[in-house]
Amino acid sequence: MAANPLPAKAVLSSNHAKGFSHPIWAARADRLQSATGVLLGLFLIMHLHFESSILFGKEVFYQVAQFLEGGIFSETGHGFPILTQIFSAFMLLIVLVHAVFALRRFPTQIGQWRALRQQMQFLPHEDTKIWFWQMISGFLLFFLVPVHLFAMMTNPEIGPHLSAERVVHHNAWMLYVLLLPAVTVHAIFGLYRVSIKWGLTTQRFALLKLAKVLLAYLMVLGVASLVAYIIIGRSLSLPVVPFVPGL
Ligand code: HEM
Repeated sequence: MAANPLPAKAVLSSNHAKGFSHPIWAARADRLQSATGVLLGLFLIMHLHFESSILFGKEVFYQVAQFLEGGIFSETGHGFPILTQIFSAFMLLIVLVHAVFALRRFPTQIGQWRALRQQMQFLPHEDTKIWFWQMISGFLLFFLVPVHLFAMMTNPEIGPHLSAERVVHHNAWMLYVLLLPAVTVHAIFGLYRVSIKWGLTTQRFALLKLAKVLLAYLMVLGVASLVAYIIIGRSLSLPVVPFVPGL
């Protein structure tokens, strides 16, 4: 009979481990966290591009928003804001699943934080620093993302004037100024870490460089769009009238 490669203590502890400390459940939780993270990261890249169509003018943003709201299927061509509400609720669910599985890794005791800081001081490896910033940005997002998604569920009106009204007159800019850097850092470094973790590439340094370029590009895109909403919002007189194409 072949000898058991695991020491008796390890076999005992793996047999008795419960919940996410059981190796099988820990592996499943790991996969689910990565899968939801990739979904959210890719969504964000698309989202910032759709939303930056405001940089091409009100008419372009109007058409993009109408298309995403299913305008081609509605008689008036104005789409269905309920789609925005359903999609926002779905994204909230994905964010919650991702956050719950990520919480397993959060250092909960002061001693763990001290160990992490010591490791960063004595061994300032770039991936350790990235992991640290992943945790800090993830913690902030736990509070910031639900606020944005609740706003989209309760007030799903999107358009050049209505979005600019939300940004300026409903003060959403305060949220976006924090949300944009936190979510961009978290998403891009998250995608980088997942690619390394699941062996998609061995070119770690090249990928890290690409991640930094993408991060800078998305930040410029996001800030430029935010400035465009602020300029439009400030030029609107109250009460705000929705944008009508061709006028
Ligand atoms: C799924 C439903 C979502 C909808 C319908 C939605 C819609 C929008 C819209 C229309 C804007 C433009 C400003 C406005 O109208 O208020 C915006 C901005 C923004 N959204 Fe979302 N969003 C969604 C989900 C998310 C998620 C899940 C994230 C992050 C994980 C996110 C991050 C952002 C950021 C950072 C901005 C500001 C961008 C900038 O500063 O240029 N959104 N969103």
